[in-house]
Amino acid sequence: MKKLLVIGSGGREHALAWRLAQGADIEKVYVAPGNAGTAATEKLENLPLSAHADLIEFVKKEGIAFTVVGPEAPLAAGVVDDFRAAGLGIFGPEKAAAQLESSKDFAKAFMKRHGIPTADYETFTDPAAARAYVEKKGAPIVIKADGLAAGKGVVVAMTLKEATDAIDSMLEGHQFGQAGARVVIEDFLAGEEASFIVMVDGEHILPLATSQDHKRLLDADKGPNTGGMGAYSPAPVVTPEIHDQVMREIIRPTVEGMAKEGVRYTGFLYAGLMISRRADGSADVRTLEFNCRMGDPETQPIMMRIRSNFADTVEAAIAGRLDEAKIEWDSRSALGVVVAARGYPEHPEKGAVFEAMPENSADARIFHAGTKLDQEGRTTVSGGRVLCAVGLGNTLREAQTTAYALARGVKFDGMQMRSDIGWRAIRD
Ligand code: AMP
Ligand code: GLY
Repeated sequence: MKKLLVIGSGGREHALAWRLAQGADIEKVYVAPGNAGTAATEKLENLPLSAHADLIEFVKKEGIAFTVVGPEAPLAAGVVDDFRAAGLGIFGPEKAAAQLESSKDFAKAFMKRHGIPTADYETFTDPAAARAYVEKKGAPIVIKADGLAAGKGVVVAMTLKEATDAIDSMLEGHQFGQAGARVVIEDFLAGEEASFIVMVDGEHILPLATSQDHKRLLDADKGPNTGGMGAYSPAPVVTPEIHDQVMREIIRPTVEGMAKEGVRYTGFLYAGLMISRRADGSADVRTLEFNCRMGDPETQPIMMRIRSNFADTVEAAIAGRLDEAKIEWDSRSALGVVVAARGYPEHPEKGAVFEAMPENSADARIFHAGTKLDQEGRTTVSGGRVLCAVGLGNTLREAQTTAYALARGVKFDGMQMRSDIGWRAIRD
């Protein structure tokens, strides 16, 4: 029997830890630090540690078989480098590889060097030069803070004024501090987005099921960008033909390009795609961004669809044997609806106590994100995205019906959710 560790505290980590714990040979999955949902899930246990040295000491003492890293911040801080230096098995990219996410300028220059399709761009530190560039290019145009900004560092400017305001607040107002001291300005791309996530062991690549996120706060993709308000898997927009094209034009050149530059990429690799059709009918698929981790909330529906022992897959990846690994997928669709706190994403209100929480079933499951237990052991709201209710169904519509029935059983003051998750794929 094995014990595992998952680092993180969001819905992605609840889903990862829950799926890993389903393996018959898994005794326990620790989640550091975890949330109220991971605290209450069978075979999961929260671990209130975050310093790398403390985690390493715990893993050695407890005989943890391996560790999986959920969020980007510990990866950018070198948690994988530190675990490997201590001789411990961990799944994630080292700090140098995590630059694909932690610096948009690095990612764009890397894509240019290796001929990976993406929007044309330039990078600026000087506000006057940046303003001159957008005036030359015109709107719509996209302004991105170079560094990590928790999903908030991208402004899709539909007018020149929005573009110059974004430049001013990043380069002059220091809105994102150091993360926004450099900005990438890139061409606006139209089309449909999809999330393409693979596992990489340095050499071999195992694609996970495709998915689609919903970045905007409100129905019909209106309102501000968020971390993600809901997701489903599979994403029908990624046809088998487009899947092959993404592997050939984006994923393999990325893994091989990193290796050529002396950085073995290991861990989850997430390419955010923009898909459109050219006049001749061929697919134009470009990379909007790389993440060096799984998506949140994409992970929640993806994990619901795994039927095989996922711990075996991660273990094979850590051992460099992903070419021998396989994942058995549930052929059904999964759809997840994020329930957020009042005020999200700008100023989420914390502290509300849960008045109702529905039961999970085989086809309907709640993954917690911004929740914690208060002194009296009650579940309370502690973050903007509070939970994700996931349903499985023979069709995406069935999955949607199941997910919303579950989400509507949740009750806390100020809860908000979109009512149209899945709309692009459910058009009847
Ligand atoms: P990113 O964090 O780079 O994925 O950007 C966040 C969101 O902004 C994306 O999911 C897209 O919806 C949008 N976005 C980013 N880059 C572009 C672009 N070049 N054209 C149009 N929309 C974009
Ligand atoms: N849901 C988008 C992300 O995780 O980056």
